[in-house]
Amino acid sequence: MALIENERPGGLRSRSWFGATGRHGMAYRSWMRSQGFTPEVFDGRPVIGIATTWSELAPCNVHLHRVAESVKRGVWQAGGFPLEFPAMALGETLLRPTAMLYRNLLAMEAEELIRANPLDGVVLLSGCDKTTPGLLMAAASVDLPAVMVTGGPMLSGKYKGTDVGSGTAVWRFEEDLLAGRMTQEECAFAEGCMARSNGHCMTMGTASTMASMAEALGMQLPYSATWPAVDARRFETAQRAGQVIVGLVREDLRPSAIMTRAAFENAIRVNAAIGGSTNAVIHLLAIAGRLGVPLSLDDFDVLARDVPTLVNLQPSGTYLMEDFCYAGGLPAVMRELDDRGLLHSGAMTVTGAGVGANVADAPCWNRDVIKAFAEPFQPAGTGTAVLRGNLAPDGAVIKQSAASQHLLKHRGQALVFDSPSAYYAVAEDPALEVDEDTVLVIRYCGPRGYPGMPEVSNVPLPKKLLLRGLRDMVRICDGRMSGTAYGTVVLHVAPEAATGGPLALVRSGDWITLDVPARTLTLEVSPEELASRRAAWQPPAPHASRGWTRLYTERVLQANEGADLDFLVGASGHGVPLDNH
Ligand code: FES
Repeated sequence: MALIENERPGGLRSRSWFGATGRHGMAYRSWMRSQGFTPEVFDGRPVIGIATTWSELAPCNVHLHRVAESVKRGVWQAGGFPLEFPAMALGETLLRPTAMLYRNLLAMEAEELIRANPLDGVVLLSGCDKTTPGLLMAAASVDLPAVMVTGGPMLSGKYKGTDVGSGTAVWRFEEDLLAGRMTQEECAFAEGCMARSNGHCMTMGTASTMASMAEALGMQLPYSATWPAVDARRFETAQRAGQVIVGLVREDLRPSAIMTRAAFENAIRVNAAIGGSTNAVIHLLAIAGRLGVPLSLDDFDVLARDVPTLVNLQPSGTYLMEDFCYAGGLPAVMRELDDRGLLHSGAMTVTGAGVGANVADAPCWNRDVIKAFAEPFQPAGTGTAVLRGNLAPDGAVIKQSAASQHLLKHRGQALVFDSPSAYYAVAEDPALEVDEDTVLVIRYCGPRGYPGMPEVSNVPLPKKLLLRGLRDMVRICDGRMSGTAYGTVVLHVAPEAATGGPLALVRSGDWITLDVPARTLTLEVSPEELASRRAAWQPPAPHASRGWTRLYTERVLQANEGADLDFLVGASGHGVPLDNH
């Protein structure tokens, strides 16, 4: 990269723009003044970027422009100069083939925007699933002072007198519709009942999980993950974040000093305690890769084994994010862990204090929502498990808390589909040869295969089994599963089928053994037979001859490495680029 050695009059990189003399300085300042700023904004105060992933195409983030206004208040209060700018908004529900295809593009875009502009620090506004990890990856690679403010969850869904969780209820309603327990009209009515305010999914799905991860990592202020999107305290916290970022710039406290190995270990344990999404595994691996923090798939299993699930939230439990907030939010959970020595309490956070100090007095107001460590919602060792075996040499994961206990040790014959759509074409066929012991294998859904590794792994059960009252069966896939979903689903199988992983060699009728307690996933086919099948295997045709999809599929890493692009791993820092004219 063509960078100049950074001379910083006043110690801030923004001075290379706004403190410049001659035609360069005139150009940098004059066009900014077209917005009506008074000249003293160029007096050497910290310039704070507010990266907003606002878009009407990303409904979970649609209120972030208002959140940005609160951040600006705080920045002005603290003597900074706030400038809001858009970063790619990734809406989980609309983007096809999957928002995950674009997480790395958001990370790359935001990284370049932060570095190329006269910014001294940045506030990251996210919400929907991929926007939080995408912006954290960007901040890690630039390593300027940064604070995250997630947009907060929606209010609880209310349908016919009961609480319904976004995402989680969708999967259930679909099964109820297929099984004849619900009508199409009831489903249409339920749509409006589930999503009734601004905010992201209010189950412990990926958005809530990643907001919690950002807080556990120390990158957002305490309680930030749980205030509902429409709660006044969400905006108060945003204003506080605006104040805080100015201080972080003055102290030069940067993401690399916050997101350390200790912080990632804290996040992994918090993820186990909240019953968080399996997607956190991929995203945390990718963020750590940007920082050069050593983190492996096995860390998620080993570190989580001592941690019980404390939070009773859907999809694993009963309640929703609004209840979690009123019960005490993430600090109450982290305090439980810290009291048992399961947090690195000295890990630095954006408050300028260690995480232990932040949560030391955190109260819990409802022990049915946030369980005490001594009486957990689910015992230690029932979080995300990492499986290995000849079917997943580089690993696979399963969310035990969302699975059926009786299926965690299971042997069955494979029924194989090369795409979700191939399965859906026959899923309602009463003649489909499937029973409760069958292991459904859905493949070519990995980072390269689909492409983008979509959340398609938890396909609904075949209709004939649903009509018999069956609610779960073992499914195995190289794709991901929504954090709002449930079921005994083995995910993230690596290497994926599209790269010739063993999953590509499975045939219907093969026996597969899943043994979660032993952490194994075994295809009962001899090495000789697998070698002969491999010799006959043909890789799928490329998805694209040009553009982002071509770049992505050629350079994406596997799930166990965080599915980042290989050339984006690491950091380029925040040196000031060469002058533009
Ligand atoms: Fe955006 Fe669930 S769809 S958070």
